[in-house]
This record gives sequence, structure tokens and C-alpha cells, in this order.
Amino acid sequence: MKDRYRLLAPVYTTISRLVFGDLIHQATTCYLSKIPNKSVIIIGGGKGMDFVPYQKELNGEYWELSSSMLSRARVNLSKSDLKFRLGDFSTEDSQKFQLAILPFVLDTMTDGQIIQFLNSLKMKISTDGQVLVSDFYQSQSVKHKLIQRLMITFFQLLTSHSRGDLPQMEELMNECGFQLLEEKSWKKGWIKAQVYTRKD
Ligand SMILES: C[S@@+](CC[C@H](N)C(=O)[O-])C[C@H]1O[C@@H](n2cnc3c(N)ncnc32)[C@H](O)[C@@H]1O
Repeated sequence: MKDRYRLLAPVYTTISRLVFGDLIHQATTCYLSKIPNKSVIIIGGGKGMDFVPYQKELNGEYWELSSSMLSRARVNLSKSDLKFRLGDFSTEDSQKFQLAILPFVLDTMTDGQIIQFLNSLKMKISTDGQVLVSDFYQSQSVKHKLIQRLMITFFQLLTSHSRGDLPQMEELMNECGFQLLEEKSWKKGWIKAQVYTRKD
């Protein structure tokens, strides 16, 4: 499998903090009080830096498509009880989880890929389970749209992302059987953290 984040992995956190300060970290961690005593599946967590302060409470699985990101996460989260897995989580028939964490990963996929991803994820979430999504959402601000365009172009060049815009997250989550329970937002709704439950 091609590692599309090989070039970015060493500098990813530095670039993200230069552009967004602490906001990405805040969005990914603001609901992590939901972790204790739950089995967790983290998908696309990158180097795992956001989870370092919570690692002793983490048990479950950590999935990455990038081996460069995964090897760093394995070191950064060495005090956790997570099992680190390289590849596509949907190919493994593993246990059901009470909490899924999707940190800035869905916006790297096309709508079709998101639907496929969420349908597979649903099979792995217990009926009373929750999904934490942190990501970018469509913004009306001209400044945000401009930065967004630059970021998308940057990712398209370096990681071959196929997506040229942002997904309608809530619509897609709804379509795949999840409903919004609560959310927090930053920068007039450009960045959000959302908690979803299963509809059934
Ligand atoms: C934009 S980066 C975000 C990294 C990290 N969550 C952060 O906010 O710093 C997206 C990450 O998701 C990973 N990724 C994308 N699709 C994935 C999938 N289907 N399964 C696991 N990881 C995936 C990529 O390899 C990459 O590390």
C-alpha cells in the first residue's frame, strides 16, 4: 500500500499548529471525557499527538493508512492499551466498539468513499455506541474559503487527495444511520466537533 503521508508525516503537526494554533487539537479532544472505560476505535489519527494526554485511558484499535503516521503514533501512544493497525479497518472482522473517533479524516474522502466507510463503521459500533467526528465544515467566510482552497490544493499535490471541496457531513452521517447528539464549533462553524449516535 502506498504511504501517501510519507512526506508530510514528519512536519504534519508543526504545519497544522502554525496554521490553526490549538484549534485542531481542541476540536479532536473536547469530547474525550467520553473515553473512560470504553473500547475505542480511532481511525486516521495520524501521529496520535492529540491523544497523548489521554493515552492511559485508551484501549481498543488505532487504524492508519499511512505507515509513517502509524509508526509515530505507536511511539507517541506507547503507554496506551491500543492495538496499532495498518490498513483499512473494514477488512478486519473485529470486536464491536463503544466509541469511534474520526479526527479530520472524513474530509480526505469522496462522498462515495465516506458512505462506504460509514456503512462499514456502523457494523463495528455497539447499538449504544457513539462516533466523535472533528473536521472542517463549509464556511461562508471568504477568508476561510480561500485558506480552504489553498489547503485542499496542498493536500492534492502532496497526498493525492481526490476531494476538491468539503463533505456535507451531517447529511452523510444521517444517510448512513447516525444522528447528531451534540456539537461544538470554532471559527464561525468552519471547524466542528460532533457527537453522533446510531439511529437504530
Ligand atoms: C488529514 S490527516 C489527519 C491526521 C490527524 N487526525 C490530525 O488531525 O492531525 C488524515 C489521516 O487519515 C488517514 N486516513 C485516511 N483515510 C483513512 C482510512 N480509511 N483508514 C485509516 N486512516 C485513514 C491518513 O493516512 C492521514 O494520516
